[in-house]
Amino acid sequence: MLGWEHKIQLYCRSDHSKRLIRPCYQLAAQLNSYGIIPFNKLAQNQSKQWFCQGYTFQKLNHFSAMSEIKENCEEAELFSPNPNVRGMVDLDRDAFTKTIQVPVLRVRKEILNKVMKSLKHKVLRRPHLKRIIDDPKDDNNKDIILDPILVTSEESFDDRDRELFKQLDLSPQVSQVDLQITYENFKTDEILEAVLPKGQDVTSSFSRVGHIAHMNLRDHQLPYKNLIGHVILDKNPGLTSVVNKTNIIDSTYRNFQMEVLAGEENMMTKVKENGVTYEFDFSKVYWNSRLATEHDRITGFLKKGDVVFDVFAGVGPFAIPAAKRSCIVYANDLNPESYKWLVHNCKLNKVGNRVQAFNTDGREFIRTVVKEELSKCIKSSSPEKTSLHIVMNLPALALEFLDAFRCLLPEQPQMEIALPTVHCYGFSKDDNPEKEVKERAEEMLGATLESCAIHLVRKVAPNKEMMCISFQLPAVVLFGSDRNNDDEPSSKRPRTEEDSGVDSKTQV
Ligand SMILES: C[S@@+](CC[C@H](N)C(=O)[O-])C[C@H]1O[C@@H](n2cnc3c(N)ncnc32)[C@H](O)[C@@H]1O
Repeated sequence: MLGWEHKIQLYCRSDHSKRLIRPCYQLAAQLNSYGIIPFNKLAQNQSKQWFCQGYTFQKLNHFSAMSEIKENCEEAELFSPNPNVRGMVDLDRDAFTKTIQVPVLRVRKEILNKVMKSLKHKVLRRPHLKRIIDDPKDDNNKDIILDPILVTSEESFDDRDRELFKQLDLSPQVSQVDLQITYENFKTDEILEAVLPKGQDVTSSFSRVGHIAHMNLRDHQLPYKNLIGHVILDKNPGLTSVVNKTNIIDSTYRNFQMEVLAGEENMMTKVKENGVTYEFDFSKVYWNSRLATEHDRITGFLKKGDVVFDVFAGVGPFAIPAAKRSCIVYANDLNPESYKWLVHNCKLNKVGNRVQAFNTDGREFIRTVVKEELSKCIKSSSPEKTSLHIVMNLPALALEFLDAFRCLLPEQPQMEIALPTVHCYGFSKDDNPEKEVKERAEEMLGATLESCAIHLVRKVAPNKEMMCISFQLPAVVLFGSDRNNDDEPSSKRPRTEEDSGVDSKTQV
């Protein structure tokens, strides 16, 4: 049996098949019990975790719940690999092989396709498993392998099936044959469920970054890390490396410390996001495939001729799409490797003439480049024609950089001006993340935000949200003479070609 003491397994039924849904801890915690949840009440979130949509959970009485669960456990057990693999640390693919009994239906060759099509829900489906068996002694007939959970005898066929048999002049005969199922025929989760200690979470999800699978293994999975890596490689064509992040993302440059679990060490990769190609060394820069929608959301606000300042640009996922929309872009990143790939990707996507890249601290970037360009833009552009956007995606810290805008420009012009819109990211663990993020922004700006839009970007952990607050920088914050910004140290001026040793001009 499964590890009831640790978790609940949810079994769900659709019309035609029974499905075993991966452990759902959140529900388990709420219910503190077990039961059956209708399949149509379940949905998957972006991280491929199951959750229950507005469910009304019916707690079954102990005995009926157990009988249902037992039946489903039999299904899970039938398609679980050879039990001898439990505890395996070095992947031995042959050890997974096991023989099961399956029902087969013998049909004439000429009606094979019709029967296969009509019985598709009863045919056995396993990865890389041929569903038809040839009989070398019988040229006229073939055997269709049926799902042993759904078909046990001729009695298992329904009226629709019988009607078809009648039309095809087939008198159905189900017989049992031995079938060898091997490592190739098992799914990743079945393999890991069979290997890892019973009752422990076997989560095998990963983010795909080009040819690299990026995992975040839990402590109890670490003894099996190389085996997990090899299984992920085997089961996902196109992957050549599996890495595990070995610490939380706390480095200045937000890149992960990582360990290669399987495959090649080369972390140079190429990804396509929203139609833009990026190349970079994944071990040295920040990249998160889960931000694709957010990158697209922000770029959706931009129009031709707008001016965009990307304070924490990374390898360019806001800056380059903005430039592709014919915006004028100033993009900055403190990490010399990010800067290098930002410059490279601008060229790769042929937008070098619209992006100026900088390699300095975000605060310094605001007080020099943003200050200088804002003062030019504000005077020269009309608010109806040009919008100014400042993107600040460094969720752990960006809100704290907002004070850099205080009194950035000396005096407010008399005419109507285009004030920049700031899109600033922040993590929040608060029960009311919108309120908390707004309060933090206001505190750093030293002003109340009369209007702002706050967007939930994604849940990064059960009680941690990534938020984006967008607001027009109030004139009362931007203009003033309280602080003499020119006194700032010049040691961190924008990096030039000479400083960086990178073969690129600031204008890329
Ligand atoms: C969370 S990543 C975001 C990158 C990119 N904008 C994206 O959406 O994928 C934050 C970036 O800020 C850079 N960074 C960290 N501290 C910085 C600082 N003080 N000034 C400028 N950039 C910084 C990191 O190197 C990293 O590339």
